[in-house]
Amino acid sequence: MNERIAVYPGSFDPITNGHVNLIERALHVFDKLIVAVAHNPNKSALFSVEERLEIIRIALKNDPRVVVNSFQGLLVDFVAQQGANVIVRGLRALSDFEYEFQMTLMNRKLNRQVDTMFLMTGYKWFYTSSKIIKEAASFGGSVRGLVPEIVHERLKEKFPAYRNVP
Ligand code: PNS
Repeated sequence: MNERIAVYPGSFDPITNGHVNLIERALHVFDKLIVAVAHNPNKSALFSVEERLEIIRIALKNDPRVVVNSFQGLLVDFVAQQGANVIVRGLRALSDFEYEFQMTLMNRKLNRQVDTMFLMTGYKWFYTSSKIIKEAASFGGSVRGLVPEIVHERLKEKFPAYRNVP
């Protein structure tokens, strides 16, 4: 049987436990998952793409079923280059829907061979996002338990207010 491969794209700035949860769920459906960090020159990031790749690899403990890579340009082109035809995205609350709907339809317009599959993020992670985690950490609010340990540690290097958070 052919290997079932999917691409899980995102900014992952930084990866959260919500993302990790989604990766675990996707691995129940697919044999191999390519976690794809987007180079987005229009978005200012806290962690460089190289830092994000390293953090994700550590957080996932080098799971052999997961490949962590970055990509530039169109997502559908990257998906095709990888020999895949499925994009996996996570859905939290209703607020994600409009953006995801728009992106899915645009991706479909760009390449009809590529489908998007949505998995629901575990309810424990419904209120978290990389953005809100960065905001809390920047003011010294603990995000421990919401992100992998490596992210908790690396946030200390980025935010002086976070340095002494146990
Ligand atoms: O985690 P994010 O920021 O919601 O991820 C968004 C991402 C990286 C999946 C999206 O911005 C993307 O696919 N970027 C690559 C360019 C592209 O193909 N855009 C969609 C069609 S125009």
